[in-house]
Amino acid sequence: MTPAPPHDPDALTAALEILECPLCREALERVDGGVRCEAGHHFDVARQGYASLRGGASTATGDTVPMVEARERVQASGVHDAIAAAVVDAVPTDARWLVDLGGGTGWHAARALVARPALRGVVLDASVPALRRAARAHERLAAVGSDVWRGIPVGDAGVDVALRVFAPGGGERGAAELERILAPGARVVIVVPEADHHRELVEALGLLRVPAGKAEEAAASIPGARVVSSTRVSAVHELGREELLDLVMMGPNAFHHDRSELVDRLAGWPEPTPVTIAVSVVVLQVA
Ligand SMILES: C[S@@+](CC[C@H](N)C(=O)[O-])C[C@H]1O[C@@H](n2cnc3c(N)ncnc32)[C@H](O)[C@@H]1O
Ligand SMILES: [Zn+2]
Repeated sequence: MTPAPPHDPDALTAALEILECPLCREALERVDGGVRCEAGHHFDVARQGYASLRGGASTATGDTVPMVEARERVQASGVHDAIAAAVVDAVPTDARWLVDLGGGTGWHAARALVARPALRGVVLDASVPALRRAARAHERLAAVGSDVWRGIPVGDAGVDVALRVFAPGGGERGAAELERILAPGARVVIVVPEADHHRELVEALGLLRVPAGKAEEAAASIPGARVVSSTRVSAVHELGREELLDLVMMGPNAFHHDRSELVDRLAGWPEPTPVTIAVSVVVLQVA
């Protein structure tokens, strides 16, 4: 594996163009060790290069180190490549600012930035291990600690494309905040699992079930937005047991199962085993 490039502090400084103070919504400027708004609220910038812009009493901690590591291995394996390609395709060539809500390690955002050289991006996530990685994911990508249920620390109408890939922040609760940060004509790219996503594992291991209708819900999630496209991306992948474990442990099932418990339960499974990956990529555009 090639070593990650050192984080570029300029990505965060550049992102102050669209970021705002989560407490008073004033503009932010770089100061020693952090960023500060005109009203004097100070937020630390971690040694690893991400800023924490949390407002209020957020307790969200996001994904743990083992979850983030499992997701990295799955993404590196190519299993999500078709999903990422559909996400990148939906990013307009003239977009200037991308925000990735619950963007994790910035894997999708970084791919969009590689494909769109004039684009800059911000990953918002609650997870410290994810943010540490996101801060190094791409030289034009800033990483910002934030709880998407407690407001988005981005100014009004500053964003040309927002991503929400397997991430919280949807529904009515998230829609108003999302609409506020979108520029006229901006796009929102939402990836949600379909009911048959990881079907073979869900049934055999008693995992959390994905309710049907998430794509329809996503398509209707921003009142007045036009549905540009809603595309099902699905394939059956032949995976070994370690890969199956990663598929389970990179998501919310990690909060309900131990890896060692699942190792025992998968012990007799043939290798490789077919697993369905099935998601919808929903692209919305606001007026
Ligand atoms: C399933 S992962 C998806 C990550 C990324 N979008 C990707 O596809 O690689 C969900 C992400 O949402 C983050 N998250 C969970 N709750 C959050 C919250 N309240 N605010 C911000 N991020 C949150 C997690 O830390 C995690 O990185
Ligand atoms: Zn402030």
